[in-house]
Amino acid sequence: MCGIIGYIGKRQAKDILIGGLRRLEYRGYDSAGLAVLNQAGLSVQKSQGKLGKLVNQLQSDQCIGNVGIGHTRWATHGIPSKTNAHPHYDSKEDIAVVHNGIIENFRHIKTSLEAAGRRFTSDTDSEVLPHLIGSFYKGDLLQAVKGALRQVEGNYAIAVISTHEPTRMVAARKGSPLVIGLGENEHLVASDVTAMLEHTNQVVYIEDDEIVDINMEDVRISTLAGEAIQRNAATVMWDISQVQKEGYPHFMIKEIMEQPSSLRQTISERIQSGRVVFPELEPLRECLGNPDEFNQIVFLGCGTAYHAGFVGKYMIEKFARIPATVDMSSEFRYSSPVLTPRTLVVAISQSGETTDTLAAVRYAKEHGAAAIAISNVVGSSITREVDVTINMYAGPEIAVAASKTYTSQLAVLSLFALYVANLRQPLDADSTETLLKDILQLPSHVEKVLTQASSIEHIAKRYSTFNHFLYLGRHINYPSALEGALKLKEISYIHAEGYPAGEMKHGAIALIDDDMPVVCIVSESEVHEKMLSNIQEVHARKGRIIAIATKGDLEIEALFQDTIYLPQIHEFASPILIAVAFQLFAYYVAAHRGLDVDQPRNLAKSVTVE
Ligand code: M6R
Repeated sequence: MCGIIGYIGKRQAKDILIGGLRRLEYRGYDSAGLAVLNQAGLSVQKSQGKLGKLVNQLQSDQCIGNVGIGHTRWATHGIPSKTNAHPHYDSKEDIAVVHNGIIENFRHIKTSLEAAGRRFTSDTDSEVLPHLIGSFYKGDLLQAVKGALRQVEGNYAIAVISTHEPTRMVAARKGSPLVIGLGENEHLVASDVTAMLEHTNQVVYIEDDEIVDINMEDVRISTLAGEAIQRNAATVMWDISQVQKEGYPHFMIKEIMEQPSSLRQTISERIQSGRVVFPELEPLRECLGNPDEFNQIVFLGCGTAYHAGFVGKYMIEKFARIPATVDMSSEFRYSSPVLTPRTLVVAISQSGETTDTLAAVRYAKEHGAAAIAISNVVGSSITREVDVTINMYAGPEIAVAASKTYTSQLAVLSLFALYVANLRQPLDADSTETLLKDILQLPSHVEKVLTQASSIEHIAKRYSTFNHFLYLGRHINYPSALEGALKLKEISYIHAEGYPAGEMKHGAIALIDDDMPVVCIVSESEVHEKMLSNIQEVHARKGRIIAIATKGDLEIEALFQDTIYLPQIHEFASPILIAVAFQLFAYYVAAHRGLDVDQPRNLAKSVTVE
């Protein structure tokens, strides 16, 4: 969590830092701050709350200079407050640091620095960094940062500036993302590329235990141990319009509406002449196709990504007939999972930076498993942990709530299941063909769901005052119910629970009354009749039903007024359409409640702490 940015060049750093922080705000928005170097020393401004507050309070003569750092915070150690906001600086106010991560041994370091006379002003773990760097400073900022980092345990991405060396910036990474943007006589440092897209598309991804010495002309990377690193710049394919709202009131609705095109990007190159192709899976192709090699698949992810993995489990078992399980990354390594060299882990992470997922993958690899990542961010941390990465190409997602990246994850997983299935056994031609055809048509099917946005808004408006919701689904759409409920919870702050419909009568049915809207997934499927019976059970107890059904389902039409209709589609592709309907519903409920849809309270998009 937290976003960091740094600029060194000829332009006013303040404007560039604020622009970058605006893009990074999805990573945390408890407080924001800037530190800029000028002749008077270090000019620092901070504020509790969102970046907008800092911008409003900044006066035109503050933070003037061409070298500076900025931070947007998701609080871990210390409450959200102005004092705990970054940048932090040392007692003499000549070294300033922004930090993303956690310094685990900060108490120990703080105690010894305090004993040596250093005065701390915040409750954060991060504040030990400027003091520690200060204690190592002997005229060379790079060496001082190196000395300090050798003492710290935990993870970090940092950017450091000092009044002693006003034309230099030092940055380093261990466990938190860091990228350098290369410009003409100017350089940027940031937590991710979206923060620098306005200025450059030439970037260098920094790896763990590397430190970067930056000035206007030059960027030198080395390991903490001192070995010089030569790394070519990568070209970022995203463009600036993708990280702007372009007339939409929120990023979330823009990203929901982008799904026909994001799905097209995810799918198009991967179906050729009626077959699924995954060139990136070539190194694992033989093992994937051989039942004597991989005999178990474990899907891992957190939040929405976990729900995608849950759908993946159904798909791989149905088509490839490989036993599969799904685990929340945060639980996985504490549950003594049985892993062997014949286990394949499929880790799903939009950001590729979720700490729990990274740790779960590391654990699986240490215990002999092979690992694939499905990620949306090229060069993200997870890509360095796994054997093979599948990029989803959904484009940048700014809203904290995942929308287009979830549907792209599902599309990748359905193609992955068919790919593996084809390597293992000739599939029932009919069902593969219909599924492939439907996958290819997903963009246009999604367009049809999106055309119902105003009727979904109408339903959402009427239900936006309720405080509890139940989402019911079965089989492959049980995870869809979980995801629908999560979406509503995270952006509208309404309590919502996803539940397997068949389990309801074993307890949860006691909750049903006319204050409990129940969202029922009753689209065409092999459990359609069973789902209908479950709905009747809710109906009989005066539950208010919002149905998600397939167009033309006369039985549902006759029974329920509040129905969202989906185009006819293969059952295994239906979670994608259902997700879009649920995203629209949650979005409009939150918007009608007047909430901050893109930056819901307490959340951050990349969860880089355990
Ligand atoms: O970047 P990741 O996919 O690893 O993120 C995992 C979750 O934190 C994420 O899906 C979260 O649940 C979203 N806010 C859901 O909308």
